[in-house]
Amino acid sequence: MRDNTHFGFREVPLGEKQALVDDVFHKVAQRYDLMNDLMSAGLHRAWKDALVTAINPPKSEREFTLLDVAGGTGDISFRTIAAGGPGTRATVADINADMLGVGRERAYAQALDDVVTFVDANAEALPFPDKSFDAVSIAFGIRNVPRIDVALKEMYRVLRLGGRFLCLEFSNVDVPGLDALYELYSFNVVPALGRVVAGDAEPYRYLVESIRRFPRPNAFADMMRAAGFARVSHRVMSGGIVALHSGWRL
Ligand SMILES: C[S@@+](CC[C@H](N)C(=O)[O-])C[C@H]1O[C@@H](n2cnc3c(N)ncnc32)[C@H](O)[C@@H]1O
Repeated sequence: MRDNTHFGFREVPLGEKQALVDDVFHKVAQRYDLMNDLMSAGLHRAWKDALVTAINPPKSEREFTLLDVAGGTGDISFRTIAAGGPGTRATVADINADMLGVGRERAYAQALDDVVTFVDANAEALPFPDKSFDAVSIAFGIRNVPRIDVALKEMYRVLRLGGRFLCLEFSNVDVPGLDALYELYSFNVVPALGRVVAGDAEPYRYLVESIRRFPRPNAFADMMRAAGFARVSHRVMSGGIVALHSGWRL
């Protein structure tokens, strides 16, 4: 039996999915931050704020380390540093050198390169010791990882006892009326914006289609429990456009 996953609505062997995902983010890296604002009409800022509030870095000098997996250009890390005290440190782990490069430039520009570290890493094989971070996050990244169960186990492994895992991901819009509007927007406006701003509609068509393939929140909660997380919960935001998933290592 072929070990297939879906790349958008196309069937793609699991082993090829990562290369296709890498190509998408290679193409969009330079315009990624601008596109986030345009495509979500700025809403991604509120969703990320909710994630950072849940990460809850201490305001004090107490040491606190965040690992942000599939962290791309570092948005979650920069926000966590801004929210936390002088003891807060963040590590961005991402498989794509172009996304990390944009992030490093942002860090230098803001003189934050001593507190935000960028590491070339695959979520399925994190190059960090067991129990080494106070919190682990992944925002709009888990659905791009070919073996979600393997990545969840890795994120659990590097989280310290008593630490919290948070995952922000697109979800399912169930509100009547909003669902049709969202469908129209996703399959028409988003690829068109991609063509105009990033010069290519195809990567954005993929991003939209991959949202449809991601497990529903309850199914994802079961995957989190299977990886070892306890007190698993989630809350949906913006009518179900996104969900914030939470679990603890106890
Ligand atoms: C939609 S972006 C999200 C970036 C960032 N978290 C944010 O919210 O702005 C998805 C990121 O996942 C990364 N990614 C995809 N597969 C990965 C993998 N196997 N391991 C680590 N990162 C991966 C991509 O390179 C990309 O930077």
